[in-house]
Amino acid sequence: MNLQIIKQLSRTSNKVCLAKNDKGMSVVVKKYQDINTLSIETTILNQLSVSGYAPKIIEMGEDFIIYEYIEGDLLKDKFLLYTMSDNIDGLVRLANELSIFLQIFYTLADNYILKDISFDNFIIKDGRCYGIDYDSVEEGMQYTDIAGVIAYAVTNCAGSIYSAFPFIKRILVNFRYQMIDVINEVRVCLNNSKKIINIDSVLNDLLMIDDKKNEKFLQK
Ligand SMILES: Nc1ncnc2c1ncn2[C@@H]1O[C@H](COP(=O)(O)OP(=O)(O)O)[C@@H](O)[C@H]1O
Ligand SMILES: [Mg+2]
Repeated sequence: MNLQIIKQLSRTSNKVCLAKNDKGMSVVVKKYQDINTLSIETTILNQLSVSGYAPKIIEMGEDFIIYEYIEGDLLKDKFLLYTMSDNIDGLVRLANELSIFLQIFYTLADNYILKDISFDNFIIKDGRCYGIDYDSVEEGMQYTDIAGVIAYAVTNCAGSIYSAFPFIKRILVNFRYQMIDVINEVRVCLNNSKKIINIDSVLNDLLMIDDKKNEKFLQK
């Protein structure tokens, strides 16, 4: 396939690029150093794209894949915008869209988790959340991912952590967790991210999510 490279998409390396194919269609080229990662990622992409929750693979090489470009918004950008503008409906919707994606992933890839839960690995298009990065998939417990989602939301919301509460609450409800179930794992994620200095105070605030007194942060 003849490709015209348009730009680099990955922030850290040139392994993910946007390109146009000979039919003028936007595609993404992803290069791999490790064949194992390529094999895991293509297996998952193939399964999820059949359900319509991941880009379809168009062509595969020995150390690269060419897959569909999903023209939408990064979950990361929508989450930042909605926490900035206290858009509670928007945050609940985003949490539902991400939850549907995760539930389908867990159904298809039994016993596996995403592990790298960074919100720039998800694209929202027409109310559907697509997963695009399966580099870090490994065997594990779902609550590790859920804790990763909560830790990411806390460290990447605009303003105080209360702005992320409607999103976090909905994630917990969708996965039938109480905050107390995942709090230790959230601590591990926050320790690893090193973005937050006073982790104990954040964890105390998060525990209020299950507290009826704080309905004002949790409308809906
Ligand atoms: N299929 C795709 N459609 C649209 N954008 C994509 C697609 N694949 C990757 N991207 C963009 O490229 C970025 C990096 O891709 P990703 O697969 O997450 O690689 P890495 O995190 O290893 O650099 C994503 O955050 C996203 O913005
Ligand atoms: Mg990524």
